[in-house]
Amino acid sequence: MTIDSARLSSELDTLASFSDTEPPAVTRIVFSESDLAARQWFKGLCVEAGLTVREDAVGNTFARWIGSEPDLPAIGTGSHIDAIPHSGKFDGTVGVLGGLEAIRALQRSGLAPRRSIEVLMFTSEEPTRFGIGCLGSRLLCGNLDAKADERFRDKQAQTLAQVRAQAGFRGSLEDVRLPASYYDAFVELHIEQGPLLERDGIPLGVVNAIAAPSSARITIEGEGGHAGAVLMPTRHDAFLAACELALAIEHAAKSSGSVDTVGTVGVCDIFPGAVNSIPSRVQIVTDVRDTDLARRGQALQQILQASRGIELRRGVKITSETINADEPCVCGTRVIDALRQACAPLPFLNMVSRAYHDSLFMSRIAPTAMLFIPCRGGVSHRPDEYASPEAIATGVSVLAEALKILAS
Ligand code: HGY
Ligand code: MN
Ligand code: MN
Repeated sequence: MTIDSARLSSELDTLASFSDTEPPAVTRIVFSESDLAARQWFKGLCVEAGLTVREDAVGNTFARWIGSEPDLPAIGTGSHIDAIPHSGKFDGTVGVLGGLEAIRALQRSGLAPRRSIEVLMFTSEEPTRFGIGCLGSRLLCGNLDAKADERFRDKQAQTLAQVRAQAGFRGSLEDVRLPASYYDAFVELHIEQGPLLERDGIPLGVVNAIAAPSSARITIEGEGGHAGAVLMPTRHDAFLAACELALAIEHAAKSSGSVDTVGTVGVCDIFPGAVNSIPSRVQIVTDVRDTDLARRGQALQQILQASRGIELRRGVKITSETINADEPCVCGTRVIDALRQACAPLPFLNMVSRAYHDSLFMSRIAPTAMLFIPCRGGVSHRPDEYASPEAIATGVSVLAEALKILAS
């Protein structure tokens, strides 16, 4: 089975050109013009490969190679093409275009799969526009329901319902949820977004667990005032309270007793945002993750206690709204075994994924696992994100082999 590496590299370059930032940075926010153009282009490739293409009400896109027993639950693969601002060209796209190339390689090899094989492009894996990650796969597995239409808004206060309708997706979100028997197995190919494979010189990672993400929107309300006139002892500076809370998040992650506990504050909005006005209100969004649910819970408890102390000491009011607090995923042994078999004779590393992926939610409705390939310096979510054509071809070849095993 041969992978057309030159064609795949060229398609990755073409996909990267659908972007709202100049190369090498990629920005492709869900349902933006760039995203919609990229979707059209990708669907064209799938039709060219003879696949049956459909889109659901939120834009999840399914391209199916019908097997000899079409009524059997299919084998799924895929990932996302939306890209956070000023990021790279490999995050997600390797799993979408690599999944398509894996199918084309199997077609070229003359395989006639029993089970259909489907490449799935998820809508909105990144939390950028609607504030929650894996929007499309959460709806597919029933983690979110049709209330998402009004619950999630973008920065222009447009609801998901309005945005998706403008993008041409008008069906009911009720119809997005997949039956538990829709897929017999699901495999996602993705760059590692970490340094381990490159550091150890190992070309492949078989993921057996995906860390559990949680995020919360925290509002700190203090008292504003003139940055010159109000004396320090009488201030209730909302931003400095937020800084103390951010450091408490870091402390909770670092003191958990495990490297698997991580935490940061990636978004911080200051009101009124004038240089000579003491911040009266600050909103931060926290991201706290762990492979172990109980340990993450302890870290979140520690952060809550810290915020109570900050309220008292600084005379501010702190309120928190949970955006998501998901369970970790244990990957399906049958899929892991198929990946390990497909890797042979190449070495592979058994790994945990610290980034979340749509597979975290696909594991709710099908036995699921992931295959990682190295990325340079472990860098991701940056314009210098890079995976070599050789690394990608190796990953796609192993993915194709695993799909063949699972579909037969
Ligand atoms: O944040 C994540 O883990 C994923 O890359 N969206
Ligand atoms: Mn990402
Ligand atoms: Mn990704």
